[in-house]
Amino acid sequence: MLELQEVCFSIQKDGEEVNLVDHVSIKIPRGHFTAIVGPSGCGKTTLLKTIAGLNAESGGTLLWNGKSLSDGYDFAPSEIGYVPQFSIAYDPLTVDESVEAATRLRIKTQNNEELDARIDRALEETGLTAIADRPVKVLSGGQKRRLGLAMELVSDPKILLCDEVTSGLDPRSEREIVKLLHDLSRKEGRIVLSVTHSLAHFELYDSILVLHEGRVAFHGPPDMLAHYFSVSDTEEIYPRLAKQPSTRWQSSWMKHREAYYAKIEKQREKNLADGTLQLPKKLVATEDEKPVEEEEEEDISTPGIISQFTTLLSRRWRIFFRDRGQVFLQLAIMICFPILVSLFSDKANVQLRSLSDMRQTDVMLELAEQQNVRQDNMKAGSALSGIIMFQVVLLGLMGSNNSAREIAGERLIYEKEKFGGLRPTAYLASKIAFLSCLIIAQSLWMAIFVNFFSPFDGNFAQHAVFLLLCNAAMTSVCLGISAMMKTAEQASLLSIYLVGFQLPLSGAVLALPEKIETITRPFISAYWAWSGSVEALATSRNLAVKSVISTSITPQEMCFYLLGLHVAVGLILALWGAKRHQWE
Ligand SMILES: Nc1ncnc2c1ncn2[C@@H]1O[C@H](COP(=O)(O)OP(=O)(O)OP(=O)(O)O)[C@@H](O)[C@H]1O
Ligand SMILES: [Mg+2]
Repeated sequence: MLELQEVCFSIQKDGEEVNLVDHVSIKIPRGHFTAIVGPSGCGKTTLLKTIAGLNAESGGTLLWNGKSLSDGYDFAPSEIGYVPQFSIAYDPLTVDESVEAATRLRIKTQNNEELDARIDRALEETGLTAIADRPVKVLSGGQKRRLGLAMELVSDPKILLCDEVTSGLDPRSEREIVKLLHDLSRKEGRIVLSVTHSLAHFELYDSILVLHEGRVAFHGPPDMLAHYFSVSDTEEIYPRLAKQPSTRWQSSWMKHREAYYAKIEKQREKNLADGTLQLPKKLVATEDEKPVEEEEEEDISTPGIISQFTTLLSRRWRIFFRDRGQVFLQLAIMICFPILVSLFSDKANVQLRSLSDMRQTDVMLELAEQQNVRQDNMKAGSALSGIIMFQVVLLGLMGSNNSAREIAGERLIYEKEKFGGLRPTAYLASKIAFLSCLIIAQSLWMAIFVNFFSPFDGNFAQHAVFLLLCNAAMTSVCLGISAMMKTAEQASLLSIYLVGFQLPLSGAVLALPEKIETITRPFISAYWAWSGSVEALATSRNLAVKSVISTSITPQEMCFYLLGLHVAVGLILALWGAKRHQWE
């Protein structure tokens, strides 16, 4: 039995507390199918989230088989299924792959047979077996809703919460889904609560809950609905609701509540007797579903962190390779950016000359020659510095492109999976592993390709490490941004600004006022990678660069640590953001 006693959920609005869910007191027995209806904005989704535990109730008590969910006891992630208003599957994956990933993330299966059996059963129950190998992006609205349900059913949840899984469907598909939900409530004592806008197919529900301004206006058998609201057609209920304040509706329902519940119970007993409702034996055996019985039910545990990590990583690569556009873009950027740098490399390729090599007998000639040597060296130094900065900034751009949308772009799906038992650390580790491959490929290719046309005169390995660190720092910081921002657009914009400011604030192109430089420099990855690479140059080239820049160069060790710090800060931000609850 699920019972809500005076449950409230409130928010602060203009300094005042506003109840979005207001003193809701309802009882829902096991094996029960309830529709939650009410005008838009009346608090249906909020109530569902409060039951799911996604909104912490501000008052009242939620009881599951007599145990309070408010203090201590909580549902295991596998016990509760929540099908939200948005799609929870990735478009490039197939139906089968989506259900498989959902199972692998939620359930610790003993072997592959159990895994396959769970997947097959979920597909069969939702009628998706025949289209199991179809990509999600080509599914119809109704099929997508079924998929959302299948992905929840893999863990045999005791409570299934569905938010508008029928909206936008044609009448036939709508009826099919309602019938499916009805059938799912007939098995294993599962409670199915379905938020809907549609007032059709009421006969399939065991009870109807009408919400009005966060309060219960009615909860009772479907056939009492028209009588209670004194309407001839259920379509007239919403206009009727508006004629009385919600407090009046609530108190009027409270007066009749027990009579309605008695009627619901009578119908339930009838269903049990004629076999249209079947409960697991242990629930039938007891009169009031004692908590002790529940603890004996099969305990489904969540998979370990490594198992979740490998599932996510293989899914990430699969999504990456299925999206041809993304693969093409990545390859194009990876190949073209180093070509772009190499176009400017011939100016830096000149042989540097030393003044002592050109002794002339004529003083005038010697002075003129010295002037030429100085000018050539300055040109080469400035070209070298520019090329290194160009490499570093382009890698920063690739870094931001790698990760800016990585978390923000799939936030709702991630939140949904976190609700189902996914660990934020496993999620983040899978992102780090995926992005590390991109970073290594991009940075090493940049270093090697440019080196081929314009050999890096100095310690090439050190230069390559700084390029890698620069890309890693930017990828990591943008991943942090992606985890903290509310939308993918916000995360992209902020990341692009961050890259855009690297060049001017690095001080390598324009000398900055000293005060500004001291404040901004610690944050500019491009400066540290550039400075570290300049220090990796052979002495003559290093001096040539230093002769043309007004910016100071920092010792390599310091550059190395600073870039490491950027990576660490980005990852800490990403973990913090990933752990945060961010449904909206
Ligand atoms: N976190 C929140 N902060 C402020 N207001 C909120 C929050 N969550 C919901 N609301 C407001 O509470 C009201 C109820 O929202 P809810 O999403 O529960 O409505 P609903 O009945 O599901 O509507 P619909 O049928 O349109 O989906 C709305 O007015 C909404 O704007
Ligand atoms: Mg809603």
